[in-house]
Amino acid sequence: MIMKKIVIINSSPRINGNCDILCSEFGRGAVMNEGNEVSRIDLKDIEYDFYREEQKLDELDNIAHQLIDADVIVLGTPVYFYNMSGMMKTLIDRMMPYFTQIADKDFYFILTAAVNKKEMEATAESLQGFTDSLPNANLVRVFYGNNVSQKGDVLDRSVYKEVFEAASKIF
Ligand SMILES: Cc1cc2nc3c(=O)[nH]c(=O)nc-3n(C[C@H](O)[C@H](O)[C@H](O)COP(=O)(O)O)c2cc1C
Repeated sequence: MIMKKIVIINSSPRINGNCDILCSEFGRGAVMNEGNEVSRIDLKDIEYDFYREEQKLDELDNIAHQLIDADVIVLGTPVYFYNMSGMMKTLIDRMMPYFTQIADKDFYFILTAAVNKKEMEATAESLQGFTDSLPNANLVRVFYGNNVSQKGDVLDRSVYKEVFEAASKIF
């Protein structure tokens, strides 16, 4: 029996970067409960277009359906110029035709940045502009991978364990 369908979206282009690592930890934690169905999307690996007035369908339309089917959605983004990555913003914009159907979801945000936690709050608020627009979205937790810059910096930070522990309690 499937307990929770969990979709993790990583919007960092850096392989083994901090956002990548934390998204992996979330996935590793979430599969501790064998009934969970966990899927991971790395936006860097897919081709997709901006939101357009005349839109051609692409992989993001399939992803929209995955989100509609999910119970839990994890949005992972590095902080770029005090905001989410362009990959994540484009994904969000492209959910426009679907957003009323992305209902009753639990959300987790994973943020990584060189700055401190306080300076990352604007990015969390920006992501919340999306979740606040969805019917009955529940933002469960924001994970701050703050003060990380080089690949792997997050490995010895408390958030690394916190992500795993929180995800392993989802069932
Ligand atoms: C285009 C770009 C813009 C960035 N802007 C910021 C920023 O505004 N604030 C910050 O703390 N770090 C900024 N960084 C650094 C990243 O947030 C940091 O390296 C973090 O670890 C994200 O990368 P990763 O999770 O993919 O490793 C920027 C990096 C890039 C490539």
